[in-house]
Amino acid sequence: MPSTDCSIPAAPSVTIVIFGATGDLTRRLLMPAMINMTRSGLVGDSLHIIGVGIDPGDDATLRQALDDFHPETGGEGAVERGEAWQRLRQRISYIQGDFNQNDIYQAIAERIARAPTGNAAFYLAVQPRYFGVIVEKLADHGLMDETPNSFRRVAIEKPFGQDLQSAKALNARIIKRVAETQVYRIDHFLGKETVQNIMTARFANTMIERLWTSDCIDHVQITVAETVDVGTRGKFYDATGALRDMVPNHLFQLLAMVAMEPPNSFDAEAIRDEKAKLLKAIRVYSRQDAERNGVRGAYTAGEMNGQHVPAYTAVADVAKTSSTETYVALKLMIDTWRWSGVPFYLRTGKVMAVRDSEVVIAFKPVPHTQFENTSAGHLQPNRLVIQIQPDEGLRMDILIKQPGPLVATAPVSLDFHYADRFDIARQVGYESLLYDLFIGDRTLFQRADGIEAGWAAVQPFLDLWANGGKPDPYQPGSLGPDAADTLLARDHRIWHSLAAERQT
Ligand code: BG6
Repeated sequence: MPSTDCSIPAAPSVTIVIFGATGDLTRRLLMPAMINMTRSGLVGDSLHIIGVGIDPGDDATLRQALDDFHPETGGEGAVERGEAWQRLRQRISYIQGDFNQNDIYQAIAERIARAPTGNAAFYLAVQPRYFGVIVEKLADHGLMDETPNSFRRVAIEKPFGQDLQSAKALNARIIKRVAETQVYRIDHFLGKETVQNIMTARFANTMIERLWTSDCIDHVQITVAETVDVGTRGKFYDATGALRDMVPNHLFQLLAMVAMEPPNSFDAEAIRDEKAKLLKAIRVYSRQDAERNGVRGAYTAGEMNGQHVPAYTAVADVAKTSSTETYVALKLMIDTWRWSGVPFYLRTGKVMAVRDSEVVIAFKPVPHTQFENTSAGHLQPNRLVIQIQPDEGLRMDILIKQPGPLVATAPVSLDFHYADRFDIARQVGYESLLYDLFIGDRTLFQRADGIEAGWAAVQPFLDLWANGGKPDPYQPGSLGPDAADTLLARDHRIWHSLAAERQT
């Protein structure tokens, strides 16, 4: 993970080979991140990019396609980003071909041999069915062979498997041909500043970490609410669903950051050990427990912000009779000494009322109160809200004395917004991930055992929901199906109000 020091050295010279160079991820996230990195000096002019794709074209057409995607429209730093792009684009080349065929790997090998460095990072921004074959072909062609002076690494996007069995099979297939230390499994949530900040908030602050146990914490809520619909991703989404798409990866990364034990150092393996241990401690439910602790929903047709939103089952490439969920809420338990008896409530969904990702730590009420006429149960318990996005920040809800002759309490918030102190708006979230890939820091990447533990915890829900039934309907612009509220009401709790509700 890059340090907070402004004088961070540039990453070593490297050729990044992007499989899926003409795809959305490359244009929307990888290239903008590399432009930002060029501009800020995180990479130097020795970064070379080889794009590989099935679309016909050559170096000029790829550069042109990326040009079209990067019109600088002004704003702070626009000139510098424009200059950085001009410098970077000269070092982009393209290889067209089929990922299953040997000729592209020969072409890649020839190009890397001509590059100023033997260091290479292969980035798989492709459909998951190509992950295994690309790694095997890279290995077959000696492209993963490292020397004392040059590294070879492979970065793999999600989804990593479709369930526990397929994730295990994919891990086994990859690890058969390359070392685990060469594999960088990406979860882009770990590139978000506020996600990384969870560790800093916990482990750099005695006043936070000391309270971080079942002695003081009543429950935890993790929400990733999205306003976007399924859009043009019907085919992918209908085979995937909200649970697979978001929970064992993004939400569990948040969960691991929040709940893991303090690592004994900031070394990548020390952190990944603790995260894996935590994920392995999520209680794996029986069928009955999964039935009781999981809620799934699918959006119906409706109005949202004055726009008509067609029902999920009316989205192109989605089966009319689909029982795929676009919303999921879970109550999970973590079987460790620290978290015994503390429920973790997770929810995520599409076309919800507001875009808001947050972690809420709900503390227990005070055990006794000396304030007249106020029972401890009536004092609002403290809350820590880690706002992941948008409006990244940290808020602590506490009680103070209301000014005046009587002793009465009033709730107030100590509120920190990143935007008030730092300029993080311009980052796309892939800068840290790519920098770490180039310098060989695996802290923010997932290890095989962590991935498998995540799938193991959601497998009972996958099995249950594959066996029939339908998701509960919910309106676009709502906060999900009623059953999600019941899940908490059963425990005499309610979901934390999301940002839009707070503003009204
Ligand atoms: C992706 C999911 O991994 O994450 C998408 O496939 C989801 O369905 C996206 O919308 C959310 O990421 P972000 O960074 O936009 O919050």
